[in-house]
Amino acid sequence: MGIVFRSVTKQYPNTASPAVDNVSLDIKEGEFIVFLGPSGCGKTTLLKMVNKLYDTTSGTIEIDGTDINQVQTEQLRRGIGYVIQQNGLFPHMTIEANIAVVPRLLKWDEAKIDKRIDELLDMVHLDPKVYRKRRPSQLSGGQQQRVGIARAMAAAPKILLMDEPFGAIDAITRTSLQDELHRIQRLLKKTILFVTHDVDEALRLADRIIVMQAGKVVQFATPFEILTNPANDFIRQLVGERDVYRKMAFLKVEDVISASGNAETAAGAEGVALTDDLKLVFNRMVEEQVREYPVVDGSNRRVGTVTMERILTKLAN
Ligand SMILES: Nc1ncnc2c1ncn2[C@@H]1O[C@H](COP(=O)(O)OP(=O)(O)OP(=O)(O)O)[C@@H](O)[C@H]1O
Ligand SMILES: [Mg+2]
Repeated sequence: MGIVFRSVTKQYPNTASPAVDNVSLDIKEGEFIVFLGPSGCGKTTLLKMVNKLYDTTSGTIEIDGTDINQVQTEQLRRGIGYVIQQNGLFPHMTIEANIAVVPRLLKWDEAKIDKRIDELLDMVHLDPKVYRKRRPSQLSGGQQQRVGIARAMAAAPKILLMDEPFGAIDAITRTSLQDELHRIQRLLKKTILFVTHDVDEALRLADRIIVMQAGKVVQFATPFEILTNPANDFIRQLVGERDVYRKMAFLKVEDVISASGNAETAAGAEGVALTDDLKLVFNRMVEEQVREYPVVDGSNRRVGTVTMERILTKLAN
């Protein structure tokens, strides 16, 4: 389900400037898109227009080629999972009842719902036997967030809107939830619109990042492009030269080497050594516009591969 924004603007009543200002975007089916930007730049407003919690002031949003205003709101929302900024579980309901909300609205039969609850809890690594009957307050923050994700996926929506889903979670749990979400996305190929103001989170998760500033999109590009070619000073500051270069100089090829590799690359390109620092390798990649090198040992034997992707993942950790 691709999503297209055409000159979308949202102006709240009695405000001086639009919260979302003439945004045009072309998001492909199955992409993991991260909206990144400071508080108040319009991220939540943009998400809420996709499932019609807010109307656009002008412009249109299309899902799979159809203007969302041509689709009944209920029907539209059935196809879109939504994880709100605070996890938003119903406190008086058990975990299983929380997850079952949408399937029940859709009048699935109870056996099917029952099976689905187990499946979803397994997916987010919560043992159904332990957690089904609990209430949200009897779960840790991170576990609640997982239930929020499971609930959003209950009716197998093709699109997921996630508004800072890991905002209130400690760094370690956050990393493991990010890994899980990434795995789930690769497995199920959802189109995900994910909001954060955490740069590292954006770099880790995104296929492409949309950087927003005061309601406008200032850059829409891959993590790599954003790191290496920030569109303006604001983004340069945001990714903070990221300490990336400093970090790179401390890391070596052996820290990111992967065993598998493409033998043809080995034959063609000149290899790098296990002990080369990543700054050197990264600069060479940018200069030569390649994304991987063979890694060779002291006797020039192939021992693995170093890829751009592995370097970026390592740096975002
Ligand atoms: N219901 C509303 N009425 C009037 N103004 C609003 C409303 N909701 C949001 N705004 C304003 O619109 C702008 C964008 O808000 P939005 O919630 O989209 O930002 P955000 O990027 O999600 O911020 P945060 O990172 O803090 O969640 C802000 O200036 C905010 O004050
Ligand atoms: Mg917000």
